[in-house]
Amino acid sequence: MGEIAVLADGNTSGPGERTDGWIVDTRTSYDTVAGSYADFVRNSLAREPYLRAALALFADLVHAAGGGPVADLGCGPGHVTAHLHDLGVEAFGADLSPAMVDIARQDHPGLRFEVGSMTDLQLADGSVAALLAFWSLIHIPDDVIPTVLEHFRRVLRPGGPVLIGFHVGDQSRLKTEGYGGHPMKVHVHRRRPEQMSAWLRDAGFTVNAQMVFGPDESSPGAVLIAHLTPGN
Ligand SMILES: C[S@@+](CC[C@H](N)C(=O)[O-])C[C@H]1O[C@@H](n2cnc3c(N)ncnc32)[C@H](O)[C@@H]1O
Repeated sequence: MGEIAVLADGNTSGPGERTDGWIVDTRTSYDTVAGSYADFVRNSLAREPYLRAALALFADLVHAAGGGPVADLGCGPGHVTAHLHDLGVEAFGADLSPAMVDIARQDHPGLRFEVGSMTDLQLADGSVAALLAFWSLIHIPDDVIPTVLEHFRRVLRPGGPVLIGFHVGDQSRLKTEGYGGHPMKVHVHRRRPEQMSAWLRDAGFTVNAQMVFGPDESSPGAVLIAHLTPGN
């Protein structure tokens, strides 16, 4: 990620980064809850065999593609980045929230974490072997998803796998508090896997796998794995 400028209002902005209200609200919200969110998720993968299986598959695909740097975009406190690192993946993280990045650096001092927005990825073309967005596209509005996926296409090496994790559903809601009652102002967008697949195909990806977790629960999740279609 590139240089990050700190604005007078305490928000940060990279070159050309969108400073729309929703981005500022999302950043402020995760800065507010960063500590309690980190406590909430730090050991969560130990209780999530299906997510661990999806991440193990992703790690296998990264190795099969020859390895190299893997971007965890919207990494939060970095527990998934670290899990991938433990699986032999050269993972680094980036997040919109400086407070999240501070915690990720404290929790995982040997790994690289930077502040930045996936709406304006400051990574060179073809510079990552793979990338994942693990429950972070859930905050990106529908009309901005194509811009984000175009960044994903641009920075990925040909053949590199992409993993997207998200909440399944049709509704969007404004979350006004979370993780111990802290104030938040963040939109949470649930999507159908078919919708996410269609966006990926429109952006030049081929979808390889679709996994739905907890289909009988009130809040199912999904993981899609895709790769760049040759010629894109
Ligand atoms: C629900 S948390 C998920 C964090 C982590 N991936 C996990 O699985 O626990 C959503 C994360 O996405 C980050 N985020 C939201 N919008 C972002 C953007 N435009 N660019 C980068 N990160 C973003 C938030 O700051 C937050 O850390």
